[in-house]
Amino acid sequence: MRLLVTGGLGFIGSNFILHTLEKYPDFKITNIDAGLPGSNVKNLARLKNKKYSYVKGNIINKKIVDNLVSRTDVVINFAAESHVDRSISDPRPFIDSNIVGMYSILEAIKKHKKKLIQISTDEVFGSLKSDSAHEKFPFNPSSPYAASKASAEMLVKSYVTTYDCDAIITRCTNNYGPRQSPEKLIPKVILLAEKNQKIPIYGTGKNIRDWIFVLDHCDAILKILFKGKKGESYNIAGKNEINNITIVKKILNIMGKSKELMHFIKDRPGHDFRYSLDSEKIYNELHWKSTYSFEKGLERTISWYIENKEWYKNISTKENDSGFLETR
Ligand SMILES: NC(=O)c1ccc[n+]([C@@H]2O[C@H](COP(=O)([O-])OP(=O)(O)OC[C@H]3O[C@@H](n4cnc5c(N)ncnc54)[C@H](O)[C@@H]3O)[C@@H](O)[C@H]2O)c1
Repeated sequence: MRLLVTGGLGFIGSNFILHTLEKYPDFKITNIDAGLPGSNVKNLARLKNKKYSYVKGNIINKKIVDNLVSRTDVVINFAAESHVDRSISDPRPFIDSNIVGMYSILEAIKKHKKKLIQISTDEVFGSLKSDSAHEKFPFNPSSPYAASKASAEMLVKSYVTTYDCDAIITRCTNNYGPRQSPEKLIPKVILLAEKNQKIPIYGTGKNIRDWIFVLDHCDAILKILFKGKKGESYNIAGKNEINNITIVKKILNIMGKSKELMHFIKDRPGHDFRYSLDSEKIYNELHWKSTYSFEKGLERTISWYIENKEWYKNISTKENDSGFLETR
């Protein structure tokens, strides 16, 4: 099978490429990535595999996308501006990559009659009190990031309904694991704790997210690639809801660091309190389930960052010390 992966130099895309080529050595994967925030060329630098090729390019560019889509079987669209805080300070790149980029991919899959898997997010449903969002739950995005992802979903749905395109939407909760940008919650805490530096925590630290180990997410996408139904959407959760402060304490505990490193700072505007997905559909219909407990995934993630200092050597964790740049 030939896959066009977009955003493959980022966190989830790079894990997906490595994992897929290991599991399915006959697959041919082309990766288009513009090298924007979240990307790291080191993610796939060691990948010497004739079945893999990289094109530096922007998914907004219809000509490049059209050409690549014509030579693939399935497009898996990971490419996105993914950083909530950045979307608050400047929404424009999010409109460009996440909506205009989506449009150019949809035009190409329509023209060449190819299949699309659109990687979306639980954030499209906004903050929830005690319930969990199932696949048909109404959208209620809070940040420009979440709104851009919801917009992309709407476009996909319209191309399925109007042009009979073959597309599936996946919505995942917070991923963690190797190769995630140190701007994001878990790597940032690990790197600051490693250097015995203060760990800023937004608000009360009680915000809740569901967490899934990135390789579980990759397996869910592969399951959807083989068994997912055209026009459907699938929620993907780790069934692992935890608040931020508990996560920070768990990391400090595993690393043998003092809780004194934690310090609380002003909350970010529009900070959603809780995301929660009902993911029974993928569990029951496609028989996928997450395999990593949070403890096992966290230990593996911490070991990876400790053993791969070279990977983040030139990346600052101090980019914005007013707090976490991200609650992921
Ligand atoms: N990280 C999570 O917890 C999470 C959860 C749910 C959904 N998602 C979704 O999964 C996808 C991947 O997330 P991630 O955490 O790996 O993000 P990331 O920021 O680590 O990687 C995104 C990649 O996309 C590339 N990119 C962005 N805009 C592009 C463009 N216009 N053209 C080409 N490449 C472009 C970037 O260069 C980067 O390599 C995103 O669509 C995100 O919305 C992420």
